[in-house]
Amino acid sequence: MFAAYAQSFSTDDPVSGLATGERPEPEVPAGWTTVSVRATALNQHDLWSLRGVGLRPEQLPMILGCDAAGVDGDGNPVVVHSVISDPDWLGDETLDPARSLLSERYQGTFAERVAVPRRNLVPKPPALSFEEAACLPTAWLTAYRMLFTQAEVRPGSTVLVQGAGGGVATALITLGAAAGARMWVTSRTPAKAERTMSLGADAVFESGEKLPERVDAVMETVGAATWQHSIRSLRPGGTLVVSGATSGRVAETELARVFFLQLRILGSTMGTRDELARLATFCARSGVRPTIDRTIPLADVRDGFAAMAEGDLFGKIVVTP
Ligand SMILES: NC(=O)c1ccc[n+]([C@@H]2O[C@H](COP(=O)([O-])OP(=O)(O)OC[C@H]3O[C@@H](n4cnc5c(N)ncnc54)[C@H](OP(=O)(O)O)[C@@H]3O)[C@@H](O)[C@H]2O)c1
Repeated sequence: MFAAYAQSFSTDDPVSGLATGERPEPEVPAGWTTVSVRATALNQHDLWSLRGVGLRPEQLPMILGCDAAGVDGDGNPVVVHSVISDPDWLGDETLDPARSLLSERYQGTFAERVAVPRRNLVPKPPALSFEEAACLPTAWLTAYRMLFTQAEVRPGSTVLVQGAGGGVATALITLGAAAGARMWVTSRTPAKAERTMSLGADAVFESGEKLPERVDAVMETVGAATWQHSIRSLRPGGTLVVSGATSGRVAETELARVFFLQLRILGSTMGTRDELARLATFCARSGVRPTIDRTIPLADVRDGFAAMAEGDLFGKIVVTP
């Protein structure tokens, strides 16, 4: 089958290690099934994989991709939950120390077919296209958990999102606004920040700009470039949720501010199968839909990787096999 896979690693030029071509059909262990992929989507995770983060050389070639919507062996339209936990693990799959994402231990979704545990399938709501549904399993699920599980955002909360055009950022803004939160957004690019007004953002700011008032919660995926601004933007007792560090993983934190203002700093990773099912229902019921920057054929996925590496996107890049 045709697939896009990592054949080597490069920190400086990750896209150079990407290859497309024929790969063997997926192996299907007991309790797993094969999904015919109708649509998948790009994530920064796929670029990290090409840099060798989370993969060892002996695992290459590895088919990339964490997201998939498609049709299972019984003909049911499904969305794939990408967090693969131990078969004996009970409860929140993201807390299983042995968990992995598709494309880390098991072959990923940038292919015509992918093998997944049956319990990782969530019904695709008919109201969502395969392209829209393919945006949910990574970026949108991460945003859902950050907002509603970790930060416990309520209607009327004020929430700052660092970054505007990214997959997680656009999901955070759209979901938070749909839930009645006042969403404030920063971006390096004023035009991208302005575009988030159409997603429901209430106000936009330049990266690092002082806010008119402190916020209940900050959503961080940018990392070093925005971390101090995030800490300074929280009201006493406010919550910072961090799920990514695109611009750098190490940042200074003024500890006195953390304890004196009783700030809560919470890490967040992906989400549970149950959260994915709730997210799909929320989208279907509310009319909320992922912002899709562009849809490209799998054969041209290199163009999508290049755009993501340069930050040249607004929303999700969807890929169809
Ligand atoms: N923990 C998890 O489970 C999980 C899940 C999904 C993603 N992530 C992580 O979250 C991060 C974002 O992922 P994504 O898929 O949304 O990536 P993406 O679509 O490429 O978005 C990147 C975002 O980072 C912002 N950004 C990048 N560099 C910046 C800088 N120097 N200053 C200010 N803003 C900057 C961009 O904002 P503008 O271009 O608008 O300025 C954009 O919103 C990645 O690090 C990814 O690994 C983690």
